[in-house]
Amino acid sequence: MQNDTISFRVQPGGTLRGEARVPGDKSISHRSIMFGALAEGTTRVAGFLEAEDCLATMNAFQAMGVEIDGPENGLVSIRGVGLHGLQAPKEPLYLGNSGTSMRLLCGLLAGQRFDTVLTGDASLCRRPMKRVTEPLRAMGAVVETTDAGTAPLRIKGVGRLRGIHYDMPVASAQVKSCLLLAGLYADGQTCVRELAPTRDHTERMLTGFSYPVVRAGDTVCIRSGGKLVARDIDVPSDISSAAFFMVGAAIGEGADITLKHVGVNPTRTGVIEILRLMGADIEVLNPREIGGEAVADIRIRSSRLNGIDIPEELVPLAIDEFPVLFVAAACAEGETRLSGAEELRVKESDRIQVMADGLQTLGIDARPTPDGMIIRGGKLSGGKVDSHGDHRVAMAFSIAALRANGPIEIDDCANVNTSFPNFVELARDLGLNITAICGEII
Ligand code: S3P
Repeated sequence: MQNDTISFRVQPGGTLRGEARVPGDKSISHRSIMFGALAEGTTRVAGFLEAEDCLATMNAFQAMGVEIDGPENGLVSIRGVGLHGLQAPKEPLYLGNSGTSMRLLCGLLAGQRFDTVLTGDASLCRRPMKRVTEPLRAMGAVVETTDAGTAPLRIKGVGRLRGIHYDMPVASAQVKSCLLLAGLYADGQTCVRELAPTRDHTERMLTGFSYPVVRAGDTVCIRSGGKLVARDIDVPSDISSAAFFMVGAAIGEGADITLKHVGVNPTRTGVIEILRLMGADIEVLNPREIGGEAVADIRIRSSRLNGIDIPEELVPLAIDEFPVLFVAAACAEGETRLSGAEELRVKESDRIQVMADGLQTLGIDARPTPDGMIIRGGKLSGGKVDSHGDHRVAMAFSIAALRANGPIEIDDCANVNTSFPNFVELARDLGLNITAICGEII
């Protein structure tokens, strides 16, 4: 087997300054393809994230007979086939590293009239899928997993499901979205009750496509029998990608950056709240609404950060930002404590263990706990860390170099392409001294 590998080498110091627009929101880009494909009419998307995860979703729909043009400079045009127009793919659908593609597609495909197999890379095939297959079975779906409850997922096209009322045992937008998609093909009503609020892009986009979704308190419900009407979508920049530079500017000296057109949907802004609690200087400028999603420009300047106890209710609202928030904690004065975040152990890597290991290598007192971490701020040294193929871990350790006293080398960074393909160029433009080194494993 021959594989390209990429390592990052980041020189210590540097100051982030200037303006940037980070790439499009990953969650919204996935959903734009899914709902565009199921709609009647043509959906035009601008600002689409041209990264491996979203391309995996796009390829899956093309394999099911949906005509999609692009992406070209973020523009994608999807000729919707309607709720009942998907065709059986000839082969298993390969979804790479993308948990969102797999969990949402599983719900959508459980109610089709054809069989499908969903598979992915080694990381995706280790991630828990029972959280979607169990409630789907209660809806009458036939989905096989491995004995460990992981992919490949073999989905039988039973054609029709039945609505359920499901109390979600985990706070997960992927599980919620999976069941709402299945609900499009279920008799009666499908209701999902959330443990805690999670990102609501699915609900917003369904509404944008003129499909009724009803929220009452912590419960979201949908009925089958409607149709989605195509519309144009302007994807804002991904706050999860912006977060790396927000932390970079907060921890660096003399930094002052403005990130333009960032999605600030209130179910995603936990990172801003947590950084502000730590003392960061963040301004949310020009707030506006675009296509049902809140958007703003975000200005961040250097400041002294202090350690905090992270409020547990903010965890689902910042779930993807903890790798870089751990770096902020390593640069803060005093101790930062995170709890209630066991979900981090089943992301693209075990983000609690992998981040604790890397921070310890860089001289930081970082103690993992079953559901979080305790980090005492200190002096970051240089060193070599392993991202374990996790895009957000790779980018988080790159940002740590701004405050390190020696170069940081990060191994296994190719998966940065799953969410932020121009990370290295954009980080360099803003002032991070980062180089990507390509190698080969034979
Ligand atoms: C996502 C939901 C989150 C997040 C993931 C994207 C989505 O996962 O971590 O990167 O697009 O719905 P969970 O809902 O499993 O927490």
